[in-house]
Amino acid sequence: MPEPVERHAPAKVNLTLAVLGGRGDGFHDLHSVMVPLAFGDRLVVAIEGAVDSLEVDGLDPGPNEDNLALRAVAAARAALGDPSRTPPLALRLDKRIPVAAGLAGGSSDAAAALAAALEAWGVDLDPATRQLVAASLGSDVPFFLAGGPALVEGRGERVTPLRPGIVGSPPGILLVTPAVRSSTPAVFAAFDLAGAATPASAAATRATSVHLAEELARDHGLRGADLVDRAGVLSTANDLLAASAVLVPRLAALRTALRRRLGRPVGLSGSGPTLWALYPSETDAAVAATVLREAVATGGLEAPGAEAPTIIATSIGGAE
Ligand code: C5P
Repeated sequence: MPEPVERHAPAKVNLTLAVLGGRGDGFHDLHSVMVPLAFGDRLVVAIEGAVDSLEVDGLDPGPNEDNLALRAVAAARAALGDPSRTPPLALRLDKRIPVAAGLAGGSSDAAAALAAALEAWGVDLDPATRQLVAASLGSDVPFFLAGGPALVEGRGERVTPLRPGIVGSPPGILLVTPAVRSSTPAVFAAFDLAGAATPASAAATRATSVHLAEELARDHGLRGADLVDRAGVLSTANDLLAASAVLVPRLAALRTALRRRLGRPVGLSGSGPTLWALYPSETDAAVAATVLREAVATGGLEAPGAEAPTIIATSIGGAE
């Protein structure tokens, strides 16, 4: 029996998210700089059983039949087209990334499952087919094939790795996820209803996104400290900020409260509701996380949702 294959499935954040417009196919064209985080899920895949199976520890990602990691295995099998080489797999997922939170946990699990399945079977797909399979699973999945910071365009299927990316010691990041699941289609629908962003703010978001992508792709990359210095402009460079605040009441109030309490800019990841703040190091982010958890516990910080928000300190890039 071959050894089980183990994979880290990182969470992502959008440092910028410009929505360029609707496409008429139910999706929107984007220009977004996305980065993987050290924090993520863990997936173990082994050849086992009579059918593909999934066992989950940790958070509840919803019913197995909707699970993107299982769908990724089926899609990889279909793309290979030779069932004799693709026996059933047992997937074990340690789910830590909050679900429907703007962190693309399910998409990352799918990308990890795709890569792990191919490795377990000892087969490969050419990069173009891998990319197509990833895009067929969801708009955020192709990003995770890049393995680092990337510019994401189209509906998510056009991924340009940004190398060398962030250089020097990795910046810390604090994530605050209110206990409210956010539906990406609903946020995009609210964005369309509101008549999108004003032309001036849409142009500013786009310019920030283009500039950051250029900086990360320059010969010497962007130092972590310089990225943290840009947090102010990045924190407003998400065209879905207003729409996500419409769908998650009190999200705007939480963002303001966090900005005051942390004394730092606070941005939104993807379609939310996860809010982020950048720090020089993971240690600094962990100190801020402790302060925030205390504030939540003593009623000094209120967040949307029936339960306390999830507060995570991690760093940008790299695996665990
Ligand atoms: O591709 P995915 O299944 O993640 O997309 C979920 C929904 O989010 C889409 O059906 C669409 O409503 C919205 N979406 C969008 N533009 C994108 C990505 C997602 O409008 N670029």
